[in-house]
Amino acid sequence: MSYKDEYRASIDDPESFWAEKAQQLDWYKPASKVLGIDEHGIHHWFADGELNTCYLALDYHVDNGRGDQIALIYDSPVTQQQQKFTFSELQDEVARCAGMLQSFGVGKGDRVVIYLPMIPEAAISMLACARLGAVHSVVFGGFAPPELAVRLDDATPKVLLTASCGIEINRVIEYKPIVDAAIARASHKPDTCVVLQRPQARAELQAGRDIDWHEAVAAAEPAACVPVRGSDPLYILYTSGTTGKPKGVVRENGGHAVAMKYSMSAIYDIEPGEVFWAASDVGWVVGHSYIVYGPLIHGCTTVLYEGKPIMTPDAGAFWRVISEHGVKALFTAPTAFRAIKKEDPEGKLAAGYDLSCLQTIFAAGERLDPPTYEWLSQTFKVPVLDHWWQTETGWAIAANMHGLEPMPVKSGSSTVPVPGFNVQILDESGKQLGPNEQGFIAIKLPLPPSCLTTIWGDVERFKENYLQAYPGYFTTGDGGYFDDDGYLFIMGRVDDVINVAGHRLSTGEMEEVVGKHPMVAECAVIGRRDELKGQMPMGFVVLKNAEGAKPEQIVEELVQMVRRDIGAVAAFKQALVVGRLPKTRSGKILRKTLRAMVDGDEYTVPSTIEDPAVLDEIKVLL
Ligand code: COA
Ligand code: AMP
Repeated sequence: MSYKDEYRASIDDPESFWAEKAQQLDWYKPASKVLGIDEHGIHHWFADGELNTCYLALDYHVDNGRGDQIALIYDSPVTQQQQKFTFSELQDEVARCAGMLQSFGVGKGDRVVIYLPMIPEAAISMLACARLGAVHSVVFGGFAPPELAVRLDDATPKVLLTASCGIEINRVIEYKPIVDAAIARASHKPDTCVVLQRPQARAELQAGRDIDWHEAVAAAEPAACVPVRGSDPLYILYTSGTTGKPKGVVRENGGHAVAMKYSMSAIYDIEPGEVFWAASDVGWVVGHSYIVYGPLIHGCTTVLYEGKPIMTPDAGAFWRVISEHGVKALFTAPTAFRAIKKEDPEGKLAAGYDLSCLQTIFAAGERLDPPTYEWLSQTFKVPVLDHWWQTETGWAIAANMHGLEPMPVKSGSSTVPVPGFNVQILDESGKQLGPNEQGFIAIKLPLPPSCLTTIWGDVERFKENYLQAYPGYFTTGDGGYFDDDGYLFIMGRVDDVINVAGHRLSTGEMEEVVGKHPMVAECAVIGRRDELKGQMPMGFVVLKNAEGAKPEQIVEELVQMVRRDIGAVAAFKQALVVGRLPKTRSGKILRKTLRAMVDGDEYTVPSTIEDPAVLDEIKVLL
């Protein structure tokens, strides 16, 4: 089928479209109603269908002749280790991990927080939760104790799973002190904390609460798959919003499994049995969807890589992994390629590897900038495809549907809306805009399967954040336009969210941290353009009592505060002490103008500005 026909079918009759796609999965009981609407007016796919996501990812393949195929390859240059699991072996590990969780009282609907580095146990424990119908919430290892504490309080898990350490290139980051500090800070205390001791660090275990992972798994009986409803939550994944409180995106089992299965062939053009590598982290949505669930549900081999694109040991690391494991499609964030390009601009390190297996490169997490696109396609001579998505959707909203009908690439565009996503460009009043007119990107309801159905425990916040601005639409928070050929161009966020090295962060949250410094009267944090990381946060700070203050010392304290409260991943390293901030007459800080000034872009002085002279004062300091 052509892309056009497929897309039309998905918009004209979504229920028939997705009912047909759902047949590719082995449900315990198919849904009687494909699309329903709840008392809050929110759509749910396959609500009363019965399935188990872990069964689809593992047991189904073992039962259908794939037991001996490699399911997961763990490749860890930071520990010089590799480990391969067949589907049967992974099923076994997961069943025993699920048994361990069961022995700690975890059952259907209970939450489990996972704070683990990129080791097989991360994927194993996610699948183990899915096996029991429990809801996992993975927290990225780069987050500091207060971030973990907020998530513990919100998700209220029975069990927390962690390891003694993560490894950042050659630095051992001890996780247990972070976990202990987070639990001490949180009001909700998990009953049990299971700790995987890695050889690089030994964690102190607290009697009565902490359990040794290996001992607990060894003592556990394997657990069977528990059928859940299509609308039962599979996981909660917290993502940055505009305030300090992250949003717990809730993903339901049914729609998620259907979208994962469909996307593997329609977008990524991958067949069961082939090797797919998402070079991301399980702490992010890309890791959930395309390190763990998508490839495994589709019967593929997935790669879990504990390393970086550079320095582990060099900028040839990705090419080694691809050639060694026969990777057909690579998916990562553009920032990773920029890092490689910086170290190895001519791609010399790639020349030493046989990359004939590699057929496509996919990029997401931030816009694939044209210079990086050009470099990649010229160096590797394979299609390089940008695609746009969000934690909220769990899969691509716009992509080049490579498995359906590959389209010519337009550099800077993420190509066309994925079937199921009725993408519209709206102006401030909600009027639909035409080609080449830039506006707010919204998706006409119903959203397709896999998209969030609520914010954990706060349906009103979900409605307020996403559904209220334009009735009948989901607002994405991104701005952009369609060109005359229907290609979508994403021009960046229209809110306080920034993307730093493919990591989604909230400037609002950083402002809350910076604002806590006793010397700070007010502040603004913006995302300035950065050649490597796409964006980097930068603070503008007005001090309470500037006389006698040592600005450099205060800036250093602010940097440390953000690192301590949010984490190293925030990469907040730069702040400027200014006399005052540019504001509108109604007191709104003109962050967009600040950003344009810092980036050296042209800008017009807003007519609403209270005092234009403040811009000149800041210009002198930049
Ligand atoms: N645990 C603990 N700390 C972590 C961490 C983790 N899982 N991940 C990152 N950090 C720390 C880093 O060590 C670094 O600390 P530092 O300030 O003390 O040096 C800080 O957080 C920032 O990390 P990062 O953003 O990774 O920057 P970097 O300069 O170390 O590396 C890149 C730059 C481009 C190599 C790296 O960002 C990268 O590989 N990006 C790809 C991103 C990606 O895969 N995104 C997923 C979406 S697809
Ligand atoms: P996350 O929820 O972490 O996946 O981040 C989602 C945000 O990243 C989106 O709202 C966009 O701002 C940005 N993003 C992701 N992929 C792309 C892309 N291909 N092009 C432009 N922006 C992107």
